[in-house]
Amino acid sequence: MELKHIPVMVEEVMDLLRCEPGRTYVDGTLGGGGHSEEILKRTDPDGVVIGMEWDQKAIDEAGKRLKPYGGRARIFRENFICLPEILKTMEIKSVDGILLDLGLSSLQLEREGRGFSFRGEGPLDMRMDERRDCTAADLVNGLPLEELERILFEYGEERWARRITRAIVSEREREPIQTTRALSKIVYGAIPKKFQSRKIDPATRTFQALRIRVNEELENLKEMLESGWKVLRKEGRMCILSFHSLEDRMVKEAFRKLEREGVMHILTKKPLTPSEEEQKKNPRARSAKLRCAEKI
Ligand SMILES: C[S@@+](CC[C@H](N)C(=O)[O-])C[C@H]1O[C@@H](n2cnc3c(N)ncnc32)[C@H](O)[C@@H]1O
Repeated sequence: MELKHIPVMVEEVMDLLRCEPGRTYVDGTLGGGGHSEEILKRTDPDGVVIGMEWDQKAIDEAGKRLKPYGGRARIFRENFICLPEILKTMEIKSVDGILLDLGLSSLQLEREGRGFSFRGEGPLDMRMDERRDCTAADLVNGLPLEELERILFEYGEERWARRITRAIVSEREREPIQTTRALSKIVYGAIPKKFQSRKIDPATRTFQALRIRVNEELENLKEMLESGWKVLRKEGRMCILSFHSLEDRMVKEAFRKLEREGVMHILTKKPLTPSEEEQKKNPRARSAKLRCAEKI
């Protein structure tokens, strides 16, 4: 089966980025290259995309997709927080737009062996960048109970964090928890049946929390929100697509702070959300929120 990631809110993102030839855009979360390809099409013949991505498999995918655009697509296997250094090495002082499309791509979620999905069986890994050394199994088997509970509660907004953590700790005392299925089973057993939703898998929040911690997603976003605007030219724009409330809140608050400081102007007073038609076609789009701010 061919795996595919459908880019989210493409028209809205492109409008906000005001893609035009001759301009330079940063795609900080290149993924399969869906948004980047759209930028390259709309900035023909000489617009440039600097794509950053830390997952080698996604880089390979995007590399194939963007090959027809030759040197207009510059791809780096880096954490997006390295953007200022990358621009320095390229001798670029400022860019016209920055896009972040946060979270996982469908390619990561669905590919066996990465451990992101509670559906299939796989090693409890969850690293987007396989060069990092801490996996979800390391956290689940090694963290003290209180720390694990805090992660599930804060990053997963999981109201059953205490029960789930206790169940994890009692299981790991018997034997280490090594697979996604083993962890899902523990979560199913820990949440009282009458509180288990039929629509949302009960393991969703636990998996989300561990993934955020393994990849230090909130720390990276925080750093980009604090420093990304500095590399934008005047009137350059930053667009961020987020998929859960923790991230959306961080983006909203950071943009407000930058507006108070007089360095950015918010263009989306309320976040934009996908049309009903898009939500029907692409279930992954359902929780998307798009915010944009412009440098003053
Ligand atoms: C939702 S996908 C992006 C999909 C892409 N917009 C497309 O249309 O194909 C998010 C991607 O960002 C990458 N990513 C997440 N955090 C990152 C970070 N701090 N630095 C670099 N890449 C990151 C993930 O590995 C994933 O491939």
